[in-house]
Amino acid sequence: MFTKERVEQLKSHATPYYFYDLDILDATLLAIQNAVKNKPYVVHYAIKANANERILERIKKSGFGIDTVSGNEIKWALKNGFKGNEIAFAGVGKSDEEIQTALEAGIFTFNVESIPELQVIDELAAKAGKKALIAIRLNPNVNAKTHHYITTGLEENKFGINYWELNELFEQLEKLQNIELKGLHFHIGSQIRDLSVFKNLCNRVNELQSEFRERNIDLDHINVGGGLGVNYQSPDEELIPDFDAFFSIFDQFIDLLPNQSLHFELGRAVVAQCAALISKVLFVKEGVKTNFAILDAGMTELIRPALYQSSHHIQNLSKINEEATYKYDVVGPICESSDCFGKAILLPKTERGDLMAIRTAGAYGQVMSSQYNLRDFAKTIYHDEL
Ligand code: LLP
Repeated sequence: MFTKERVEQLKSHATPYYFYDLDILDATLLAIQNAVKNKPYVVHYAIKANANERILERIKKSGFGIDTVSGNEIKWALKNGFKGNEIAFAGVGKSDEEIQTALEAGIFTFNVESIPELQVIDELAAKAGKKALIAIRLNPNVNAKTHHYITTGLEENKFGINYWELNELFEQLEKLQNIELKGLHFHIGSQIRDLSVFKNLCNRVNELQSEFRERNIDLDHINVGGGLGVNYQSPDEELIPDFDAFFSIFDQFIDLLPNQSLHFELGRAVVAQCAALISKVLFVKEGVKTNFAILDAGMTELIRPALYQSSHHIQNLSKINEEATYKYDVVGPICESSDCFGKAILLPKTERGDLMAIRTAGAYGQVMSSQYNLRDFAKTIYHDEL
């Protein structure tokens, strides 16, 4: 991602900023397109991962739909050229206003997460004189083997309708007149690196789908959500996730009926590797065991390490060819001890003014930034603007 020439260009911009290499995004999108070619698969990009317009423009050109979790995400997707019928809408707490926005947009599906929600959607659809297209989000109770904050498919999680609620669900589905059931939806978690988890999901989807078939309920699609993880430790070794391996699990293990389509909601795997957070070292301060490299970017720009104990690969771009023989706790300037990008990180001798890159920041980076401590938002720079 960082040639010598590019590092020189990066140096001329005020830090901190998000740097996007859209060539990496293009290569990633192409890999996905190739992996799903000639299959009844549709990818809805999870816009929550990164909603930058230039990114959405490329995703749209690649023919993907969109996965949303708020009314504003729906509006943003429409504004960026996606059609209503390409938009899926999940979330355990959809407000009436958001439901109305989605009805007006004529979305692909409401991914319905509870029976009370189903009833409200039915009511609001009646008021709007529309039929709401829905998928039922089922909680499959499959362990995603990832960080507990980004695990969504266990019974203890708030997401989806549980197995024991199915009978009540079937009763409601028969009764409610203003909804039309199109599919089943699942999403078990994020940053899933152990692909066997998706095999477990397929097995559970097959079991749950048979409950619907037994009642002669037709489903025109199954939506298995997102979750494919990326390599945070060694991004350059795996800039493009192994999409063939991911999709082939579904090829092998999911029982699709004739004419049924399979939908995916990938977020992280699409955009994570195309960006880095670029920052400068403000000070190097002596610590007890290791020294601190204090950056001008912190948890306000990238909260993932503080929130999920995630570790992003950190590079000293000013010393890119030097050997990493010193250890630093790489921290931000925010008044919180959790404002730490990594402890005892091996780096070349690092000094005030060095340009630092925190890699794999394209997903859940910029979108989760805040102005805590009344800081300015980081700027955005694309590879063709350097
Ligand atoms: N579909 C639904 C219903 C979701 O809730 C999510 C992510 C996705 C799809 C996309 O998942 P992905 O392919 O990106 O794993 N902020 C956290 C991640 C939260 C994910 C929330 N839901 C992080 O930085 O790790």
